[in-house]
Amino acid sequence: MQNPPVSMIFRRIAQRYDRMNRLMTFGLDLRWRRRAVDRLKPIAPKRLLDLAAGTGDFARVASQELSSLEEVYLVDITPEMLALAPPKKPNRPGLNWHILVADAHNLPFESESFDAITVGYGIRNFSDRMAALQEMYRVLRPGGRVVILETGLPKAALWKALFWVYFRFYVPLLGAVFGRDKAAYTYLPESTATFPHREKFLYLCQEAGFTEMDYIDLLGGVSILYNLKKP
Ligand SMILES: C[S@@+](CC[C@H](N)C(=O)[O-])C[C@H]1O[C@@H](n2cnc3c(N)ncnc32)[C@H](O)[C@@H]1O
Repeated sequence: MQNPPVSMIFRRIAQRYDRMNRLMTFGLDLRWRRRAVDRLKPIAPKRLLDLAAGTGDFARVASQELSSLEEVYLVDITPEMLALAPPKKPNRPGLNWHILVADAHNLPFESESFDAITVGYGIRNFSDRMAALQEMYRVLRPGGRVVILETGLPKAALWKALFWVYFRFYVPLLGAVFGRDKAAYTYLPESTATFPHREKFLYLCQEAGFTEMDYIDLLGGVSILYNLKKP
């Protein structure tokens, strides 16, 4: 199911991934992650799946902000990304991290085994988003919640034009200089441009069975926080 080049891209950039995230977003991605995790607080999750966990930044923020958490599963298809996650685990008694290489399209978990799922900038990379959403739905318990962060394009015309120049030309340049991989940071705006944003994405989520869905534009829509619930 997995498109091999996607995993190859993340294998190549793993060591420089965190630094590029901070540079590209001026550190705002950490604030966006906290904002996403805030949406999980009402259900006080104990078991969390961080899907496409990468180097573990979303799992770290979730583990810091959600004192109810006991078991956190970090799942990703690229071992080189996951290899950087273990030092990010907060040292809190009763909190366990499980780090697994697996494909989002075929999750190695029992049905209804998680209270919540986080996906940070991962779903855009999945080769079959509907299959991955159906897997997320399957492993989530009824009443469980999903928060998804994904790159977006602003709605406002002027902001969109300015952002596109930044994203399409400046980010690949940053990627070449600091990430030492221009192609990977050209893939980022290209895959964002073809991703079905906002209502189009929520339509897919609804088709997968989710309800009580909404989205929040962050910084005018350069990043979008999607919230879903399993009825
Ligand atoms: C942009 S990184 C995001 C990492 C992390 N979630 C974050 O917020 O920084 C996207 C991640 O998706 C992973 N990925 C891509 N396709 C996947 C799949 N089919 N199953 C699991 N992980 C996948 C990649 O290996 C990569 O680590």
